[in-house]
Amino acid sequence: MKQIHIADAKDHVGETVKIGVWLTDRRSSGKIVFLQLRDGTAFFQGVVNQKNVSAKLMDVAKHIGQETSMWVTGTIDEDKRSHFGYEMQVKDIDVIQKAENYPITPKDHGIDFLLDHRHLWIRSRRPFAVLKIRDEVKRATYRFFHKHGFVQFDAPIFTANAPEGTTHLFHTEYFDHDAYLSQSGQLYEEAGAEAFGRVYSFGPTFRAEKSKTRRHLTEFWMIEPEMAFCHQDQSLKIQEQYIAYLVQSIIDNCQYELKLLGRNVDTLKAYTKLPYPRITYNEAVKMLHKGGLDFKWGNGFGSPEESFLADQYKRPVFVMNYPKSAKPFYMKPDPDDDKLVICADLLAPEGYGEIIGGSERATDYNYLKKQIKKYGLNEKSYDWYLDLRKYGSVPHSGFGMGLERFLTWITLEDHVRECIPFPRLLNRLHP
Ligand code: 4AD
Ligand code: MG
Repeated sequence: MKQIHIADAKDHVGETVKIGVWLTDRRSSGKIVFLQLRDGTAFFQGVVNQKNVSAKLMDVAKHIGQETSMWVTGTIDEDKRSHFGYEMQVKDIDVIQKAENYPITPKDHGIDFLLDHRHLWIRSRRPFAVLKIRDEVKRATYRFFHKHGFVQFDAPIFTANAPEGTTHLFHTEYFDHDAYLSQSGQLYEEAGAEAFGRVYSFGPTFRAEKSKTRRHLTEFWMIEPEMAFCHQDQSLKIQEQYIAYLVQSIIDNCQYELKLLGRNVDTLKAYTKLPYPRITYNEAVKMLHKGGLDFKWGNGFGSPEESFLADQYKRPVFVMNYPKSAKPFYMKPDPDDDKLVICADLLAPEGYGEIIGGSERATDYNYLKKQIKKYGLNEKSYDWYLDLRKYGSVPHSGFGMGLERFLTWITLEDHVRECIPFPRLLNRLHP
């Protein structure tokens, strides 16, 4: 008997095949039992009809528990009413392991219960769709950067550096030394850019965020490209091309997952049109004041400000050149206004806010040395970083995109915790 995966059902219409599946739900209407099945590639329906099977098999079909694993054998038919489009007329069922009292039933559960059972929850439709799209975004990321001549350059996770400030560091012992879990691979990518021209890292980063917001994980994945001989304007172009490429890849390769999520494809298509609008921080502050928001010049934007600004546009928008006081030590000062730095955050529409932070980097040795001191960083740990400004310093720019932030927006989830297999949050290390 030919063994296939549900996702390949379209190539086997009319054939009798065997599939390894789990039961997600069951509905009986007297002479017919509808088994909702999944195999990790898709969800579809198995129809067990009394007229096709033995009484014994009918009895099995009526009583198998949710998440029982089994082999089903049957013929593939079209099923135009379902998201998936195909179903199986079941002829035989061979139970592998009988499951009983599966805790996640088709009824609604509270979020704490679901997070406590995340190891099982990932089998459900929504997490399945979100995490499949996550996989596509990772693949598309590799395709995009390699197509544009970037070298993947891994940054260490143990580090003595704190590029994004000292407030949210995870401290750890490193033999006889103090170390932190990396907040960002950026400083290492800057070294990489001087060796390979265009590089990017893609790995987990860590922030001891004590805040319980919908946007903060303590462990999240970041894509961090860094480009030598590149000013901020060129970097913004790469950023918007990258986002448009990701969105297009999802439209092309994740149609089924988007259907499962009920995500409107036309809305997504609009995000592939470039360029994205650009406004300055100063213009943004004027918009906030005009909109009646109480905001003090010099601060960074929080969720209410970002949502308000993004809502003024129906697409992602770059907010450029923030005050120095709101940003990290390494950004290049604005030659036209010493209080500002050459940077941009990309804000996602539909209420989602910042998904990218980036900047042109300061290139002057003495300026950076002063900044490191001013920001209270341990100068000894940055000697290697300063070397980059001694030996062939060049204009360079880069950015970081939070994978889960991007996904939360694309999938319209409420919280970044839904967009990573096992979220790490202020009060969550289990499972
Ligand atoms: O704006 P951030 O802090 O910038 C940096 O780390 C730079 N060093 C990046 C660079 O230029 N190479 O973080 C970048 C992005 C944010 O825009 C956001 O998408 C995401 O990382 N991010 C988080 N995502 C989830 N949970 C958190 N706690 C996050 N903090 C930042
Ligand atoms: Mg930021």
